[in-house]
Amino acid sequence: MEQYAIKGGNPLVGEVEIGGAKNAALPILAAAVMTDETVYIDNIPDVRDTKVLTRAMQSIGVMVKPEGRHRVVINAAQIHSLVVEDDNIKKIRASYYLIGALLGKYKQAEVALPGGCDIGCRAIDQHIKGFKALGAEVLIEHGLIKTRAERLIGCNIYMDVVSVGATINIMMAAALAEGQTTIENAAKEPHVVDLANFLNSMGANIKGAGTDVIRIKGVKKLHGSEYTIIPDQIEAGTFMFAAAITKGDVMVKNVIPKHLESISSKLLEIGCEIVEADDCLRVISSKPLEHTHVKTLPYPGFPTDMQPQITVALGLSKGTSIVTESIFENRFKYVDELTRMGANIKVEGNTAIIDGVAKYTGASITAPDLRAGAALVMAGLAAEGVTVVDDIHYIARGYEDFHLKLQSLGAQIAVINSERELQKFKLKVG
Ligand code: UD1
Repeated sequence: MEQYAIKGGNPLVGEVEIGGAKNAALPILAAAVMTDETVYIDNIPDVRDTKVLTRAMQSIGVMVKPEGRHRVVINAAQIHSLVVEDDNIKKIRASYYLIGALLGKYKQAEVALPGGCDIGCRAIDQHIKGFKALGAEVLIEHGLIKTRAERLIGCNIYMDVVSVGATINIMMAAALAEGQTTIENAAKEPHVVDLANFLNSMGANIKGAGTDVIRIKGVKKLHGSEYTIIPDQIEAGTFMFAAAITKGDVMVKNVIPKHLESISSKLLEIGCEIVEADDCLRVISSKPLEHTHVKTLPYPGFPTDMQPQITVALGLSKGTSIVTESIFENRFKYVDELTRMGANIKVEGNTAIIDGVAKYTGASITAPDLRAGAALVMAGLAAEGVTVVDDIHYIARGYEDFHLKLQSLGAQIAVINSERELQKFKLKVG
């Protein structure tokens, strides 16, 4: 089983190129099946989740042809099954995007119930509510969500909770419904907007994405398109916080600074300097980090996917900080691991009370999920001594070349497979 070995203490310095957004790529890949014409998608991150989804698409007859590492050509004219039961598909949350896409196009879909990171109860009631409002029958049987409709008819849907996944799924199905659909209390995340832009480039008529009311006029058919996915806000934010906690100076390139405002403002609050240009941000961390409070919220609030990373930084900040997780109830599992590295954090319900410590110390720890895994690696980069991180396959779900990018910034990090390789790493880093 692969692990990361990390020798902490090096400030991260240099430039890092951010890839395409995983959480935009997943719905956009799924939406590409909504036309029989060919679709070209650029800036797809080479991460496990996108590979799992494209394999599932291939299993029902979709032609997915990579052109290089970050571009695919997709043609869904030869789909031979509307049942997506690929074994791996349950492992990723975004599998359910194939329901909205296939239901919209074929008025029928059966997809294995989603998994994803274990960060709390991940209900799908709002997706189901939306499909039913559009006129579909929805059944959950034998581990599958089964949907079917004679016709999909546009309607008004009020989302009881702000849900990225449900907004996206309903938008896809409604794009090919009859008449107008209005989604109220919609999610406003950049990837929701990216999907709407992609669907519009295929001939859909979607207005208001990025606000909390999305209006979709159904069209009869979608056509081929060529589209480039937006940069990954969370990958960028992770490197920005990695610069902060290692006392580094990192230029994060190929980003949309507007998508990073909540992250940048927290970095400023804790004492970092940020220099912003059109498509890059430089984070300079030269002073001791200050404490702050943060609550995760739907966009444009502070993202839940950055909660472990900011907690790791606040664990090394002066004074007491409070982090409140308001999206997923089970997202502090990594705190036990961080405690083993010397952090002083008490979790009460959805709140972490953090008393900053002067340093972390290297330990053997386990990544409990994707973002917490990345955050624990960051802790290792700032820690005294050697840290070994287990279960790094979670990190590969959403970060392309994570350790290579960190190495290019001066981090001492390697993938190891055995105790022997760990000893070799220790000898090398001294
Ligand atoms: C997406 C992201 C994930 C991110 C999350 C919040 C992808 C593949 N994943 O997940 O990285 O952490 O947005 O920004 O894009 N909920 C319901 N009923 C539903 C749907 C959701 O109650 O039908 C609740 C969830 O339990 C959660 C909240 O709504 O408490 C937000 O979930 P949602 O925005 O749907 O997250 P995902 O789309 O699963």
